[in-house]
Amino acid sequence: MATMEKKKPRTIEELGVSSTIINKLREAGYTTIESIAVATAQELSTIVGIPLATAQKLIAAAREALDIRFKTALELKKERMNIGKVTTGSKALDNLLGGGVETKTITEFFGEYGTGKTQLCHQLVVNVQLPVEKGGLSARAVYIDSEGTFRWERIESMARAVGLDPDQVMENILYIRALNSDHQMAIVEELRTLIPKENIRLVALDSVTGHFRAEYPGRENLAIRQQKLNRHLHQLMQIAEIYNVAVIITNQVMARPDVFFGDPTVAVGGHVLYHTPGVRIQLRKSRGNKRIARVVDAPHLPEGEAVFIITDEGIRDAE
Ligand code: GTP
Ligand code: MG
Repeated sequence: MATMEKKKPRTIEELGVSSTIINKLREAGYTTIESIAVATAQELSTIVGIPLATAQKLIAAAREALDIRFKTALELKKERMNIGKVTTGSKALDNLLGGGVETKTITEFFGEYGTGKTQLCHQLVVNVQLPVEKGGLSARAVYIDSEGTFRWERIESMARAVGLDPDQVMENILYIRALNSDHQMAIVEELRTLIPKENIRLVALDSVTGHFRAEYPGRENLAIRQQKLNRHLHQLMQIAEIYNVAVIITNQVMARPDVFFGDPTVAVGGHVLYHTPGVRIQLRKSRGNKRIARVVDAPHLPEGEAVFIITDEGIRDAE
């Protein structure tokens, strides 16, 4: 590893080309470093109207910025060791997740109303602030709320319950209400400048799907909704990977009484991460404050279920 590592560009403005070219790139739809990294020189040169050699240089700079190159297996191991884990408050659920929710990954909690998705988001923006030996990352969090169900009172009690100063914990949560799906996507773009400035290691987005469902209802809008949602998930995936943060998303999945075979909650909407890498956790209600979590199609995680409870103190192990 280089001792004097220079700061890698995060935006196309930082790639070191003239503002004229930046404007041309933006007009042609190349708004992110990744969009340039995956372009071919021929395409970039033609569409943007720049010399082939400039296009080649630009692509090389974008790939360098994203660290796309041959790596040794040892480097991969070291990168893997940079991954941080945040405790959910329940050992059983942590074990199911392989030690907690991970940075560089999207974790999706999906399930019916009242299954604890919002409570888990609250708990995780608190727990990321804990020191590493207590299951946190000594870092701040972003809370993106699309449904207006964030409660600072809940943060206060959860903070107190883990022995942190409630006011300090609330100071370390950067909250924003997402007004519609476009705004929600714009907020995620903004994270590219916010995260490097603040010590943020966890982003909670509750819920990822609400606005998209409301704005593109029904089967007739399914294709466009999924297309936009995929773009959104791609944005989130990039944020997780590039900035080494844990991204937590929730997705309400309604039970379908007309489905008799298999799991009735999987049918409608499904889990949004279906085609995106990440961890999907299905939540179900059990008796009283008990909830059951199950990992869905994650070959690297152990199969099985975890039971946890929602208490006044937050997410805890059952008994
Ligand atoms: P939707 O957003 O409607 O899809 O539901 P959700 O999955 O987000 O459910 P949520 O996380 O809001 O979980 C609600 C559950 O948490 C309910 O069963 C509440 O009883 C429980 N809960 C919420 N606040 C508290 C609290 O302060 N104390 C206790 N003991 N339980 C709480
Ligand atoms: Mg909720």
